Amino acid sequence: MATPRPRVAARATTRPRAADPAAGAAGRSVATVTAGGTEPRAAVPAVVAPIADAAGPHVAGLVAAVESRLREIAGPGGEALDLAGTAAVAAGGKRLRPLLAIVVAGAAAGDGERALAAVRAGVALELIHTATLAHDDVLDAAPLRRGRPTAFAEHGRAAATCLGDVLFAAAFAELATGGSTPAVQALAGACRELAQGELLQRADAWRTDVAEARYLERCRLKTGALFAAAATLGAQVGGVAPEPYARFATAIGVAFQLFDDVLDVVGPPEVTGKPRGTDLLDGTVTLPLLLARAQDDGLRALDLRSLDAASAAAACDRIAATGATAATEHRARQLVDEALAALPPDADAGRDRALRLIGRGVVDRRL
Ligand code: IPE
Ligand code: IPE
Ligand code: MG
Ligand code: MG
Repeated sequence: MATPRPRVAARATTRPRAADPAAGAAGRSVATVTAGGTEPRAAVPAVVAPIADAAGPHVAGLVAAVESRLREIAGPGGEALDLAGTAAVAAGGKRLRPLLAIVVAGAAAGDGERALAAVRAGVALELIHTATLAHDDVLDAAPLRRGRPTAFAEHGRAAATCLGDVLFAAAFAELATGGSTPAVQALAGACRELAQGELLQRADAWRTDVAEARYLERCRLKTGALFAAAATLGAQVGGVAPEPYARFATAIGVAFQLFDDVLDVVGPPEVTGKPRGTDLLDGTVTLPLLLARAQDDGLRALDLRSLDAASAAAACDRIAATGATAATEHRARQLVDEALAALPPDADAGRDRALRLIGRGVVDRRL
């Protein structure tokens, strides 16, 4: 069975930057952003705008405030970061984790202290995400991210590692301002799991016979944990029990990683912002290859260390031809379907609508 080509709207990693929203106003007062002249909705990445709209009229202002505070921290002459940090934050991205936190916080985060707490959580989550990507690009020796050279490629291993460290520290400094120990603990726990996931992936490098359960656990640690932290932080802000939302977020985070791994095999570079087969080239064995090996003797015999860019692209074609990418997508859809079915009944209709859109967006490859 042939794997369908991803829609070009998928993973809009190279999308143009949104207009700068009310720069400088956000960290202290959400109201100054929403009332500040710049249209808050302009700060919402187009790919997630329908989710923000569904969540409620307060959400665009919160997203704008997150964006503005990120630029305050990481912009030129900002509090803590140098040019590499500025570039990493300004390069864009979907800002999915802050949005997830804001959505889970719900209508209760519409104004006042809860709104400020939601923005702080969103800023901390995005700084952690950016830090982990800086470190991930060192570990994967990645040349491109979001269509641009990585900090690793441009400034080298040491600088990119330090950049990640600075971003980690900036994230916790931001979150700690709110004085919530449970929030700091939830984010610290996710960082620990994330690093454990990356360590597990390094330990499994070049091994083409990794057990599927171990691969899925890697996805949970590497990607699901930060999604879960976003949901937990949001629930803490909104004053609702975090567990059901954290479970939902973990599942869609794993599904998100499955799709990312499919895109590494089939995604056109102009969509993904990176060449095909980068996982194969850095020895990262993912579900598409694990499933394809069962169908294709040639792939079973493949030595990943022997690949170059051209043979990696050819191996990607061969993996897709077995139907393994379609099967991986199917697994991701199942995960999301189960997660959506398990969402608790919600009196907050905006939260419910938006979470369902996020779940579907992961599966439909809009995110
Ligand atoms: C990329 O995450 C890393 C993975 C977990 C696969 P995103 O796709 O959310 O990255 P950006 O922030 O939108 O670029
Ligand atoms: C996700 O893994 C990275 C993190 C969760 C830090 P990948 O290595 O697949 O992410 P990309 O493909 O480089 O964005
Ligand atoms: Mg990577
Ligand atoms: Mg990847």
